[in-house]
Amino acid sequence: MSIPVLTIDGPSGAGKGTVSRAVAKKLGWNYLDSGAIYRALAIAVSNQRTSLDDVIEITNIAKQMQLAFECNEELTVLLDGEDISSHLISEKTGSVASKIAALPEVRKVLLQKQRDFQQQPGLVADGRDMGTVVFLDAPYKVFLSAGAVTRAKRRYKQLIEKGIDANLTRIIQDIEERDQRDSERSVAPLKMATDAHYIDTSEKSIAAVIAEVLDFID
Ligand code: DC
Repeated sequence: MSIPVLTIDGPSGAGKGTVSRAVAKKLGWNYLDSGAIYRALAIAVSNQRTSLDDVIEITNIAKQMQLAFECNEELTVLLDGEDISSHLISEKTGSVASKIAALPEVRKVLLQKQRDFQQQPGLVADGRDMGTVVFLDAPYKVFLSAGAVTRAKRRYKQLIEKGIDANLTRIIQDIEERDQRDSERSVAPLKMATDAHYIDTSEKSIAAVIAEVLDFID
């Protein structure tokens, strides 16, 4: 029997993480935060002071890195045995992740790591290309979006709540740059799958979006 997958794609700050985790919990399904895989690779590359132009070395690091995920209230990520969870959220990590995510060789290496998450009884997969590439045949696809300023304000609030220093103008700029890079790259760009259900989350509460996704699956 095939294992059902719900893909939730969209740009940074659209609410994918919170919505995906809540829906996975409600359904009792597994959860894949694919952005965390790219972010973990960004941390590994930065730790090793590898140049972002060194595609061969970045691809080697992607092949060799050992990742372990634990999803409770928050996501815990271990990179080669070390807890890197608190470093994942920074804008710097997001920006490096977005740059290395544009490398086709890197995406190829990370493809199977992401597909391995498809385990019984089901999977909620959150990212940019879940419904268009990684789980193209998924029976349920959702695309979440919101205006760039709304998304930046959410990211700002998230960082401040975690005690991380943040600057809203800088975040708006980062989000717009990241949107552009993620949407215009040649391989697996951020775009809505033709068979996805679209939700604009700008004016909706998280609870309303979660309810709409659960309704859609029903
Ligand atoms: O969802 P996020 O902000 O954690 O993702 C960080 C970056 O990783 C994002 O800017 C682009 C990249 N990414 C990707 O290319 N494909 C995915 N499926 C998920 C993330």
